[in-house]
Amino acid sequence: MVVYFNDEFKLLSEVILSPFDRGFLFADGVYESIRTYNKKLFTYEEHLKRLKRSLKEIRIGFDDLNTLENIIYELIQKNNIKDEALIYLQITRGKAFPRTHSFPKEKAKPTLFISVKEFKEDSDEQSRGVKVILQEDIRWLRCDIKSTSLLPVVLANQKATEEGAEEAILVRDGLITEGTHTNFFAVRDETVFTAPSSRLILNGITREIVLGFCKKFKIDFREEFINKDDLKNFSEFFITSTTKEITPVTTIDYWTINDGEPGKITKSLQSVFKKITEDY
Ligand code: PDD
Repeated sequence: MVVYFNDEFKLLSEVILSPFDRGFLFADGVYESIRTYNKKLFTYEEHLKRLKRSLKEIRIGFDDLNTLENIIYELIQKNNIKDEALIYLQITRGKAFPRTHSFPKEKAKPTLFISVKEFKEDSDEQSRGVKVILQEDIRWLRCDIKSTSLLPVVLANQKATEEGAEEAILVRDGLITEGTHTNFFAVRDETVFTAPSSRLILNGITREIVLGFCKKFKIDFREEFINKDDLKNFSEFFITSTTKEITPVTTIDYWTINDGEPGKITKSLQSVFKKITEDY
C-alpha cells in the first residue's frame, strides 16, 4: 500500500512515525474521511472547509492545503484503485520533544498522513436498515471539531458491535446528539428532525445534503434535539455519513420500528441521494 506521509508518497512499510508525535501522545490532531463517486472526490470543497475549520479551532497552522486534492488523486492512482475510493486524511500538531501538554516552544511541523482504500457502500444494509443502541454521550464539549481524540466513541461503538448493532446513538442529558460516526434523524408527522448544528455534534456533510433535499422538496424539517423518552412518538429513523450515506434505522435497542420496514420519507431521501451520486 502506498500512503502519503508528510511530503512524500511512501510504501506503508517505510513510514517512520516518531512516538513523540503529538498525534500519538495526545491525539492532538484532526481528520477527514472523504469518498469518490464516479472516481471524483465527492463534496471535496465542503470537506476541505471543515478541515480548515478544525485546524483553526485547535490552532494548528497548516499552509499547503491547496495541494491536497492533487495528492489524493495521485494516491488513488498509485494504489491502483479500480472502482471507488475512501480517503482518510489526518493532520497532527507534529513531533516535539520533550513531551509537554502545552504547544511545543519551538513550533513543530504538522504531520500529514493520507491513505486510500477501495470502497463500496453496503447496499444491503441500506435497503434492510440497521440496528442501533443508545449510549451515554461522554464526549467533550467540542464535538463540532473533527478531532482524532475518539476514545468515547470507540468504546460506544464497540458496545454496539458486541450487541449486534451497527451504530451507537449518543444521549447527553436525555437528549439525542448523534451517532458515534453518523448523524441521527427521526421523522414524525412527515417532519424530519435532527439535532441542531452546535458544539454538541459534528455537522455532517451528508446531514447538510439531507437538509438541502428537505428544503428543495418542501419536506418540513426541524433542527431540534429529540428527547430519548420521546423516541416512541416518531415513526421513522435514519443515520447519515460519508460511508453510510442514508441508512434506515429499523431497531433501537429492543424496539423494532414499523415491523423492521424502512420508512417512506427515509426511502424517498435515499432515492434522491442515489440519483445525485449516480450523476456525479
Ligand atoms: N464520520 N458525526 C460524527 C461524530 C462523525 O464522525 C461523522 C463522520 C458524521 C457524519 O459526517 P459526514 O456526513 O460529513 O461524513 C457525523 C466519518 C465518516 C468517520 O468517522 O470516518
